[in-house]
Amino acid sequence: GAPWGSSAWHCSLSASCECEFWPDLTGLECDLALRLVGQPLARQLVVRGLREFVQDPDPAKPLVLSFHGWTGTGKTFLSSLLVQHLFRTGLQTAYVHRFSPLVHFPHAEHLEQYKDDLRSWIQGNLTRCSRSLFLFDEMDDLHPGLIDVILPFLGSSWVVFGTNYRKAIFVFISNTGAEQINRIALDLWRARRDREEVGLQDLEPAILEAVSKNPQSGFWKSGIIEQHLIDIFVPFLPLKRHHVKQCVVNEMASQGLLPRPEVVDGVADSFSYFPKEEKIFSSTGCKTVASRIPFFL
Ligand SMILES: Nc1ncnc2c1ncn2[C@@H]1O[C@H](COP(=O)(O)OP(=O)(O)OP(=O)(O)O)[C@@H](O)[C@H]1O
Ligand SMILES: *[C@@H]1O[C@H](CO)[C@@H](O)[C@H](O)[C@H]1NC(C)=O
Ligand SMILES: [Mg+2]
Repeated sequence: GAPWGSSAWHCSLSASCECEFWPDLTGLECDLALRLVGQPLARQLVVRGLREFVQDPDPAKPLVLSFHGWTGTGKTFLSSLLVQHLFRTGLQTAYVHRFSPLVHFPHAEHLEQYKDDLRSWIQGNLTRCSRSLFLFDEMDDLHPGLIDVILPFLGSSWVVFGTNYRKAIFVFISNTGAEQINRIALDLWRARRDREEVGLQDLEPAILEAVSKNPQSGFWKSGIIEQHLIDIFVPFLPLKRHHVKQCVVNEMASQGLLPRPEVVDGVADSFSYFPKEEKIFSSTGCKTVASRIPFFL
């Protein structure tokens, strides 16, 4: 859309500007329950965190979420459902800014330029709309040292020109910590306990350790971790074969196809599973489910 649409113009006049921010958290909760397979913990953490945050008319700091987990477990998927239920125009909104390192910051030698760009984008967009959402996907590909330019925006002291910058939402997405999460899920399985018994108290220390110790995490030596600016670590568990089948059923239903058992089983069997001996968890989660279905029809 136009960079300065009518609601942006309204924003410049109105102190109570909320841009297109129109959270429908009940809708989000329902949609996640129906469509996000096998991630009850992530669903609860995100919905609860958002609910508390949007109900507060004067939050002390922006909401900072960090998603962690294996490939294809639904991190990017959840983030797009989130955007659809927070902004009136959904994915079309001009107030959500998604950064992907390989697209926006591909060349390490331009780091200083990227720092200036990112700082001014965040500042510029927050001035336009204090309810902006900034999404940093594929954090593992981000050059360490870049993310710290957003540090001043994440704390509690950042107020410029009377705009309340503390109403913004930041979401980081990464694979860092995935091995640790998978290991915990596997240990649980080996102890014959239910995968869904695992709680944040079991996973958070492992994620935090991975994020602080992994030089490839994008958060390497970042003040964001050191200053505890992440409000909620959201773990995504590895998906089992029955979850993959559920993804196939959902995908077929959304395409108006009747999910025949031989198709569902065929697609689920075409995935590879780890560890080698037990073959419990899908190596690529539910990723590529949609593109595999036609081969089994
Ligand atoms: N938990 C899930 N429930 C339903 N569908 C899922 C789930 N996980 C993945 N999918 C399906 O797989 C596709 C790819 O998932 P997604 O992009 O969210 O993976 P990701 O966790 O972001 O992985 P990566 O770390 O590789 O980016 C989604 O568009 C969706 O169709
Ligand atoms: C807002 O962010 C986008 C990148 O998502 C950038 O291109 C644009 O210039 C920014 N707007 C302002 C006003 O800084
Ligand atoms: Mg992703």
